[in-house]
Amino acid sequence: MVEQQDYYRREWQLIRGVPIVWAFAQNWERIDNFQARCDDIVIATYPKAGTTWMSEIVDMILHAGNDEQCGRDFIYNKVPMLEFWAPNVLAPGTKTLEETPSPRVIKTHLPVSLLPKSFWEKKSKVVYVARNAKDLAVSYYHFDRMNQLHPEPGTWAEYLEKYVAGKVGYGSWYDHVNSWWEKTKDHPVLYIFYEDMKEDPKREIRKVAQFLGKDLGENVLENIVNKTSFEVMKDNPRTNYVTNTAPFFQTDISPFMRKGVAGDWKNHFTVAQNERFDEDYGRKMAGSPLCFRTED
Ligand code: A3P
Repeated sequence: MVEQQDYYRREWQLIRGVPIVWAFAQNWERIDNFQARCDDIVIATYPKAGTTWMSEIVDMILHAGNDEQCGRDFIYNKVPMLEFWAPNVLAPGTKTLEETPSPRVIKTHLPVSLLPKSFWEKKSKVVYVARNAKDLAVSYYHFDRMNQLHPEPGTWAEYLEKYVAGKVGYGSWYDHVNSWWEKTKDHPVLYIFYEDMKEDPKREIRKVAQFLGKDLGENVLENIVNKTSFEVMKDNPRTNYVTNTAPFFQTDISPFMRKGVAGDWKNHFTVAQNERFDEDYGRKMAGSPLCFRTED
């Protein structure tokens, strides 16, 4: 039997070449064999791109902004994570999802190559959120510091090297954002940018609602914008991972709802790190149609 101490701070395990949280990587057949349903809504992201934010938005859209219904449970129960598993502590996401009535909203960080094939067969709608590589690196570094399911990140400088090399959970950011973009061509994927959500949340929430076939009035949209603002979600015990937090989150090291801004990378990258990063980024993203904004 796998015990908690066996997987805390354990190195990633490779699944078909992609580094995955060791605890999640056990019994991977449960992921490959997962049965999607036609009306599933998948929220796919590289970690730290704004998954929790989009999860709350989609849940509010589906409940037409009804505060009482949206306040019914914690975000991780309303939107279970497909590949999640903390053996002996918390049940696998696949099991929770099997018991969840339709329509299910499913969170995943899996790259295109690892998504269970039934999602492609069932043509399940996917909302993909992408965030610029620099802010994401900073957010992921602080997350790895506080999340004991992940290996220790080391210093910021050490971490940045690993991130650029794709030696972090879920592998290369570059591959993730590009392969999900490719999928927009032959699958119902709505591709949203974190920076656009910051710039004009109402515009982006309206896009998501239209994609999900929901026609919401202005008042409902306004309510969703307000209730999903960083400040409100940071104070909301059902979204901030402070109360009833999973035992592996050490929120005293770094809070889950940390800063919620675009441009925080400037407080972390040295000039030399930034130059090296940009040079490598140019090579890796050459030919990609994706254009990320790294400023406020
Ligand atoms: P920071 O660490 O930069 O603050 P995920 O949910 O994918 O794990 O992403 C977490 C990141 O999204 C964190 O970024 C978190 O603060 C930010 N975030 C969460 N809710 C947000 C909101 N309502 N508005 C803006 N950013 C939010």
